[in-house]
Amino acid sequence: MKILVTGGAGYIGSHTVLTLLEKGHEVEVVDNYDNSSPESIRRVERLTGGSVVLHEFDLREEERLTELFATGAYDAVIHFAGLKAVGESVAEPALYYGTNLESTLSLVRAMAASATRTLVFSSSATVYGERAQVPYVEAYEPLEANNPYGKTKVMIEHILGDLAAADDSWRIGLLRYFNPVGAHPSGEIGEDPAGIPNNLTPYISQVAVGRLASLGVFGDDYDTPDGTGLRDYIHVMDLAEGHVVALEHLAASPGIGARAWNLGTGTGTSVLEVVAAFEKASGVEIPYEVKPRRAGDLARSYADASRAKDELGWVATRGIDEMCADAWRWQSQNPQGYRA
Ligand code: NAD
Ligand code: UFG
Repeated sequence: MKILVTGGAGYIGSHTVLTLLEKGHEVEVVDNYDNSSPESIRRVERLTGGSVVLHEFDLREEERLTELFATGAYDAVIHFAGLKAVGESVAEPALYYGTNLESTLSLVRAMAASATRTLVFSSSATVYGERAQVPYVEAYEPLEANNPYGKTKVMIEHILGDLAAADDSWRIGLLRYFNPVGAHPSGEIGEDPAGIPNNLTPYISQVAVGRLASLGVFGDDYDTPDGTGLRDYIHVMDLAEGHVVALEHLAASPGIGARAWNLGTGTGTSVLEVVAAFEKASGVEIPYEVKPRRAGDLARSYADASRAKDELGWVATRGIDEMCADAWRWQSQNPQGYRA
């Protein structure tokens, strides 16, 4: 298939582009490098021996996108591009609603003006909100989120669902990721957040490599076995493979409409268990201090991963030790990320 990947230079995008190339697909990327650099794609090309056509522009430039679709003859689109920092979205809601919603609307209008109707969207477990019970099942309603970033995911799921309901030529996969971590086993590509990381494993990696002094553990008084938050960490390579099987499933499923799949392992791992696994993988002690709970955090979040298994034949195969070993290989080989 010929696939257009938006946000393909980013963390999950670059690993998915690599997996698509390895499976023999043709790939083009649109990215404005707002949170990435073309270096990730250059490394993907080196690792795979493949080549990727890069288009550098903002998805909100709808005319350029429409031109691309007029000539591109894409079989499908994977839509990763967007802003993703929860705290920043609370401080700058207009930026988040503007970027994430306008980019997606621009994309689906450009697709509608072409023959391309197959789309995979990066949604998030955040759409289950605070009231759903673990393990989260896709049929749960109503979707809700407690911050502008998460609300853009809920709104985009509704927009894409409405599109598919209005026109049955659309085939849309809504992939609800749990907590993506790890890196390609080569250590050549990985997660490279700008500034101080918000997420747990990049923070731990930067402590391990000496860029940060110590980890703050946000709360140890949750109703969980060791008191720290439980999350469903999923290896980014398992996630990348999930995109490829979702695309293949959509390609073989006329009339499917919009369908949601959780991409998670189905297991919760605590913050302190992640710290221990990372210490084991790296051989480096991670100093930490317990801090107050972070606003908006849940005690537990993990998937019921059975729909993806039953319908896509997909299961996550890599465990927390492999996630930490791969994250550490990337971080130790690239202490300053792609900027080195
Ligand atoms: P990332 O920031 O590494 O990648 C996003 C990419 O999109 C970047 O390369 C960025 O430059 C590009 N981009 C942003 N706005 C753009 C625009 N207007 N036009 C063109 N390009 C633009 O993030 P990621 O972790 O790879 O996440 C990818 C997707 O998965 C996002 O939609 C994110 O919300 C979603 N997601 C991520 C996580 C996570 O924890 N990483 C969890 C759930 C869902
Ligand atoms: N944590 C710490 N210290 C840190 C960072 C995180 O103790 O410095 C804890 C959190 O309290 C939480 C766990 O580690 O218990 C995981 O936190 P992350 O920030 O890594 O991940 P979240 O589950 O909070 O959020 C992630 C993505 C969101 C997405 C959400 C649900 O960042 O975009 O998963 O899918 F919406």
